[in-house]
Amino acid sequence: MSCALLSSRAELRCVVCATVTASPAEDFRCAACGNLLECTFPDWPSPAASPRLAAELKHLWIARRTSFDHLDQSGVWRFREMLPTLPHPEKIITLREGNTPLWELPRCARAAGINEGQLFAKHQGMNPTGSFKDTGMTGAISVAAQGSAFSGRAASSEVRWVACASTGNTSASMAAYAARANMRSVVLIPEGKVAWGKLSQALDYGAVTLQLRTDFDGCLNLLTQAVREYPIYLLNSVNPYRLEGQKTAAVELAEQLGWTPPDHLIVPGGNLGNSSALGKGFLEMHRLGLISRLPKISVIQAAGANPLARAMRANKGTSLTPITPDTLATAIRIGNPASWRKAVRVVQQTGGMVDDVTEAEIAVAKAEIGSDGIGCEPASAVTLAGLKKLTASGFVQPHESVVLLLTGHLLKDPEYTIDFHRDALLPQASDAERVAMQRLERAPIQLDADLGQLLRTLQAAEN
Ligand code: F0G
Repeated sequence: MSCALLSSRAELRCVVCATVTASPAEDFRCAACGNLLECTFPDWPSPAASPRLAAELKHLWIARRTSFDHLDQSGVWRFREMLPTLPHPEKIITLREGNTPLWELPRCARAAGINEGQLFAKHQGMNPTGSFKDTGMTGAISVAAQGSAFSGRAASSEVRWVACASTGNTSASMAAYAARANMRSVVLIPEGKVAWGKLSQALDYGAVTLQLRTDFDGCLNLLTQAVREYPIYLLNSVNPYRLEGQKTAAVELAEQLGWTPPDHLIVPGGNLGNSSALGKGFLEMHRLGLISRLPKISVIQAAGANPLARAMRANKGTSLTPITPDTLATAIRIGNPASWRKAVRVVQQTGGMVDDVTEAEIAVAKAEIGSDGIGCEPASAVTLAGLKKLTASGFVQPHESVVLLLTGHLLKDPEYTIDFHRDALLPQASDAERVAMQRLERAPIQLDADLGQLLRTLQAAEN
């Protein structure tokens, strides 16, 4: 696993007080101040000290695309020089995650006022379990599999369970990777607020699935207490190794764009781990000389689950007040995001924005992404809805290049899509919202098995 090019010995450092810890607490909070930890790489050289490093890394990573080695075939581990060096690479658990497509979105570009050829989707929903969570899960569960010498209390021999609180996708991903790793997994999900696609995955992959009468924040709060009492390894994105895996989406994206980052990257915001991870990826690539400028990273939340957007408006993100969340985009139905400080830092360091979008704006944007033949789950569609606001305000210019980070697959939440097309999604919508949605609705049409009816229907649909 060690690499001649780069020593990626990682330290865990508190994002607020900078205390370095050799052995993290069970809840991955700093023992000194209670804030979150992040991986840092003290031995990385500066580009000035190592002028050929960036070119050599790029060459190595692209060469691995012709390899059949399972680590090289993973879109996460292909970039392992940027990940914490693991003492037992043979214990890495991978489902060949990452390797996700970058697609142009011509219809969405027109809808958002972006010039032709300038709007793209990086579709992380094309991961093995259908969401971006897989890129982080391979990282964190592989750390858990290393043994106590590396991961503190996280020795698979000592740890009886891996666990997460989830709005659905993390639980699906964790259940799959835990099954591959032969670990017992338990998921805590808010009862009635998890899309069926996700719940069915957790069940099929064999997780013990607990539906709690609370929201996501209540689930995470309870699990945080439980890990202090019981040998459970926590796999939420407070675990810094999750974000290490997730940051590789930024590296893959930069590579796909010939190492010229887009002007803007737009990311949905829930617990705010992913925006933090992508920002970390871009900042680290910049530090290593792999890219010469940063994209502006903007975070979009649902208006009913917008604690970060509120905090940015109220106090530029110096403090965050939890809210009771509500949105049909259940993946991001989160009122007390754990990684908000990291996300604020990313938005500020890259010059991005934070905004929120309404339920109707999300529904329309999701159907527009669908109409480009791509599709995504509702939480991912906040990106396009947010982009429209950012172009309207002039923050994003029509000639600039924009990448929307789509986080989950269309098939995760088919109920939402069916309700939308049957005009049953938002009964409280205003007249104007209804008009905007109806333009995109395509309800299924019932017919007799009759040729005349079929041909008349097709003719009508041509208009
Ligand atoms: N999009 C989707 C599809 C998600 O599942 C999530 C989070 C997000 C966006 C937001 O990402 O939390 O890193 O800001 N889902 C988590 C889960 C919370 O449990 O599956 P974030």
